[in-house]
Amino acid sequence: MSIKNKQMKKAFTLAILLFSILSLPAQTNEAAKMKRFIDALMKQMTLEEKLGQLNLPSAGDITTGQAQSSDIAQKIREGKVGGLFNIKSVGKIKDVQRVAVEESRLKIPLLFGMDVIHGYETVFPIPLGLSCTWDMGLIERSAQIAAQEATADGINWTFSPMVDISRDPRWGRVSEGNGEDPYLASQIAKAMVNGYQQNDLKKNNSLMACVKHFALYGAGEAGRDYNTVDMSRQRMYNEFFSPYKAAVDAGVESVMASFNEIDGIPATANKWLLTDVLRKQWGFKGFVVTDYTGINEMIDHGIGDLKTVSAKALAAGIDMDMVGEGLLTTLPQSLKDKTITLSQIDAACRRVLEAKYKLGLFEDPYKYCDENRAKTEIFSADHRKEARAISAESFVLLKNENSLLPVKRSGTIALIGPLADAKENMPGTWSVAARFDRAVSLLEGLKEVAGSQANILYAKGSNLTADKELEDRATMFGKTLHRDNRSTEALLEEALAVAGQSDVIVAALGESAEFSGESSSRTNLDIPDVQKELLKALLQTGKPVVLVLFTGRPLTLTWEQEHVPAILNVWFPGSEAGYAIADVLFGAVNPSGKLSATFPQNVGQIPLFYNHKNTGRPLQEGKWFEKFRSNYLDVSNDPLYPFGFGLSYSKFEYSDIAVNKNNLKGNETLTASIQVKNNSSVEGKEVVQLYIRDVAGSVTRPVKELKGFQKVAVKPGEARTIQFLITPEDLKFYNYDLQYDWETGDFDIMIGGNSKDVKTVRVHWSR
Ligand code: BGC
Repeated sequence: MSIKNKQMKKAFTLAILLFSILSLPAQTNEAAKMKRFIDALMKQMTLEEKLGQLNLPSAGDITTGQAQSSDIAQKIREGKVGGLFNIKSVGKIKDVQRVAVEESRLKIPLLFGMDVIHGYETVFPIPLGLSCTWDMGLIERSAQIAAQEATADGINWTFSPMVDISRDPRWGRVSEGNGEDPYLASQIAKAMVNGYQQNDLKKNNSLMACVKHFALYGAGEAGRDYNTVDMSRQRMYNEFFSPYKAAVDAGVESVMASFNEIDGIPATANKWLLTDVLRKQWGFKGFVVTDYTGINEMIDHGIGDLKTVSAKALAAGIDMDMVGEGLLTTLPQSLKDKTITLSQIDAACRRVLEAKYKLGLFEDPYKYCDENRAKTEIFSADHRKEARAISAESFVLLKNENSLLPVKRSGTIALIGPLADAKENMPGTWSVAARFDRAVSLLEGLKEVAGSQANILYAKGSNLTADKELEDRATMFGKTLHRDNRSTEALLEEALAVAGQSDVIVAALGESAEFSGESSSRTNLDIPDVQKELLKALLQTGKPVVLVLFTGRPLTLTWEQEHVPAILNVWFPGSEAGYAIADVLFGAVNPSGKLSATFPQNVGQIPLFYNHKNTGRPLQEGKWFEKFRSNYLDVSNDPLYPFGFGLSYSKFEYSDIAVNKNNLKGNETLTASIQVKNNSSVEGKEVVQLYIRDVAGSVTRPVKELKGFQKVAVKPGEARTIQFLITPEDLKFYNYDLQYDWETGDFDIMIGGNSKDVKTVRVHWSR
């Protein structure tokens, strides 16, 4: 954090403190009012109606005009539904809400949830891409726009942000998270919650957030989705928990339990996790929802039948049951059997009602049902413009030999590859509200941005993969790549004919949108063979080739790094994909994204992450292999692209670090500054990263940990001094007894443009 920022933060904190003291009576009044209201309501509720509030079915079978007649409508009338999800459009939502507030006995309004993960109809880059912007303002803004659009369409609750740390790109859901680093992910968690909830759920354009999947869902064995997790508490607290906690600290109103087990007990029934950690240690006051059939799945986990697991879930701290209806159907008997208590049911019911109260639904159940807003605020020109800019910020330039990029907006460009004309795939995974027909493909974007100045030729070149069944599995939910039934040879021949007429080739290759995401784990992280063959053939033409890589996860690009002159990783950029990519390819936007996840050389290195421990036999810096050291015979320990890495059209040079002192005591502040010079003729943005290593601790500490970053614009020839202020707060960690504190000793302060290339200075800090 810079001095100015720190001073501003201090002033801001003081102002907040003053404000909170002054508004304390108002808050207490508000809380007392809410309590009175809910007490009175709950007094009238039958057991069945209370359990109804804990029930969250999917609205799958409600289509327009059917709200009155669907099975779910009947349940709503009977007071057996607390909320619904998977229902889109203000018209339908209004109809269903009407059933709840006009036809049910107690007229309790419903929550309407949806997976609004990275935008609504205006779609932003997949979260992994967004995290590579390292720009919290933009990330918050993307969530705010998503909230505005979703609430304009009747939604009041989003199942986002997903903040599961993962170090395993085989896991398909790395696409939905923020990468491997707890510090970066925590900043993002906070930005997302603020963007959605805007610190004021009473507004009609703020959306209740739900942080997920609590907890450790990203650490499944072998990267296989839903797989077992087994982890030490040290690792949980120091490396995986902080993004969830950051969301709680930011005031997130709901939490979703994860599918996996923790210490042998599924998260959904894990009292230590859902009550001791979440509520007692972190002070969470909102409600906890299961993941989709999370309760029922505990039968297969092997901890009991539906009645047993439902009782365990409630007792652990679950308040709402997504889809499975275990709570609704079995708790009456469990209550009779005394395996649960009425006060446990009451507590859960109260929390769900509180959320509805805080959203203002009791005052106006149609608060989010304004058809005029739906007409004007969704997929608006302004939102699309912002999405275009945000998308371009998420791209990571992985290689740019001889400054091949940006390409000139002239001559003939051959755009080749299965992702080039693939509008359905541009929004990426988890874009349930998107309208695929309105997404901009790379072909469309490139043509429009090139205008009459350049000639764009196109050929598909290959299918996604030679294996049709695999392609079917990787293009579900309408995200088709329009498989071409011609032979591989015929597609290649056509591509080479097109390439032959061009000055430069842009190869749009990689994964399809559903090649990553939920239930899309892979054991092979190469670009599929048939595309790689295409790429080889394009390179053999001798023309310059730019690889525009679409992917939802780190891929293994060792061959590509060696042979392709320029690689631009664009993830899945969202609805404005084609425009944003064209902006970067032609140089209207200088790429500034930095990786939030390590790219390994091969799958065998996984899990590979920058903030690892040193071991007792570390490999010496710069070495590939040494006998009896921690390494492999066949590949070095290095990543292909380290965490924090990303090039720019500018060239940045870092000075050494200057510190105000080398010996510090107690609560002193260390100032570490560095000069970043732009040695090029183009203005660019650089993400300057601060890492710290605690050289010796009471428990072993990582070789480095991200502790700060600043994204700064640097003009051609300009040298900017970037300053980080470091206090003992930045040195804290959870020790063996899980106490959060810092310890006297030496610390390496590292600053650089990625986690590997850093300048270092050592300081000593004592109590
Ligand atoms: C996913 C959640 C999602 C839920 C509702 C589950 O399969 O794990 O992330 O929010 O479905 O769609």
